[in-house]
Amino acid sequence: MKKIHCLNPIAACGTDLFPADYELTDNFAEADGVLVRSASMHEMELLEGLLAVGRAGAGVNNIPLDACAEAGVVVFNTPGANANGVKELVIAGMLLASRDIVGGIGWCKANAEDEGIAKAAEKSKKAFAGCEVKGKKLGVIGLGAIGAEVANAATHLGMEVYGYDPFISVNAAWRLSRNVKHITNADTIFQECDYITVHVPLMDSTKHMINKEKLDMMKDGVVVLNFARDTLVNDDDMAAALASGKVARYVSDFPNPKVAHMDKAILIPHLGASTKESEDNCAVMAVQEMTDYLENGNIRNSVNYPACDMGVCQAESRIAVLHLNIPNMIGQITGILAEQGVNISDMTNKSRDKYAYTLLDLEHRPEAMTIQKLNGIKGVLRVRVVK
Ligand SMILES: NC(=O)c1ccc[n+]([C@@H]2O[C@H](COP(=O)([O-])OP(=O)(O)OC[C@H]3O[C@@H](n4cnc5c(N)ncnc54)[C@H](O)[C@@H]3O)[C@@H](O)[C@H]2O)c1
Repeated sequence: MKKIHCLNPIAACGTDLFPADYELTDNFAEADGVLVRSASMHEMELLEGLLAVGRAGAGVNNIPLDACAEAGVVVFNTPGANANGVKELVIAGMLLASRDIVGGIGWCKANAEDEGIAKAAEKSKKAFAGCEVKGKKLGVIGLGAIGAEVANAATHLGMEVYGYDPFISVNAAWRLSRNVKHITNADTIFQECDYITVHVPLMDSTKHMINKEKLDMMKDGVVVLNFARDTLVNDDDMAAALASGKVARYVSDFPNPKVAHMDKAILIPHLGASTKESEDNCAVMAVQEMTDYLENGNIRNSVNYPACDMGVCQAESRIAVLHLNIPNMIGQITGILAEQGVNISDMTNKSRDKYAYTLLDLEHRPEAMTIQKLNGIKGVLRVRVVK
């Protein structure tokens, strides 16, 4: 019986997919796998029994990735599962910023008791008028799951779309419309676009990527959209750019006290992925990834271990070795198996940064002593008998 603990509510259409011999537990301490959305795991102790963490969503800064890797805990996320939900809100954000729709709605509410509201509206509406997005230039920084969807959708609105992503994946490149202009220097986007939207992960290298220097390069009256992470934008610099009129509107999905006090900001309470469809997609994907790892040792969409897929084990046994990415690990692992007379029928070794993963199909079930010896190799973080 495998036990799964949910740190946040996870859609039943996902958890229902666990095999019959799995059960959900309220007790974190007995969990083989943990499913999480936004709950912070930074202060949690990683217990020996925990094998995997499934983040139902894309961002993983609520999870201590290195500490998990060191403890032999594979962390998965669900890239792309909420991309359509975020894309739809980005498009809505762009439209909200193009006319003062929010102000106009406020005006209607404020004048709700006026019998002559229809006539008054005709007089007052010019204060809320704006422009159309068709024919305008949109710059998309980061062309992953979300950025590519936003870029493609904007081409259908008649926008001229510039896309910048020096690390674009092959899959994302395939998904991108041919009408999106490939930009090789982000400054071109800062200098030329009427709307700029960021869809990059938050990292040391991307923190405050929208700052005074970049804002100064932008066209007067530009609209900046941030549905990725709040600290990608320097709030003080943005407040100054809004106050001077350099930026007409800042649309952000990340409320904080500074942005909440910016008059020209359109602030949304982190609704990007808050759709039933996104939550369902994330739950299904997280459960499928976790089940494939617990049942078969396969790793798909991990953020701290390499991808590895050997399908369903047809051999007598399968073991998984999570280890540091240092020389002579395979030699030592296969040496111990050979010494113990265990024949390997298939194996894969993959590495990613500091960590590596070796999955071995064996012709005999290894003895407890063999597993103990593998665990004793310096640099081995966990050995798991998958089958
Ligand atoms: N508002 C929300 O509710 C919500 C929901 C999901 C995701 N997000 C955020 O959106 C971000 C993007 O999500 P995604 O699913 O598209 O991720 P993704 O990993 O599919 O795409 C990120 C892209 O950014 C690119 N990139 C990295 N550094 C870059 C740089 N310096 N310049 C240009 N491109 C760079 C990568 O190559 C990748 O293609 C996530 O990291 C997350 O923070 C927000």
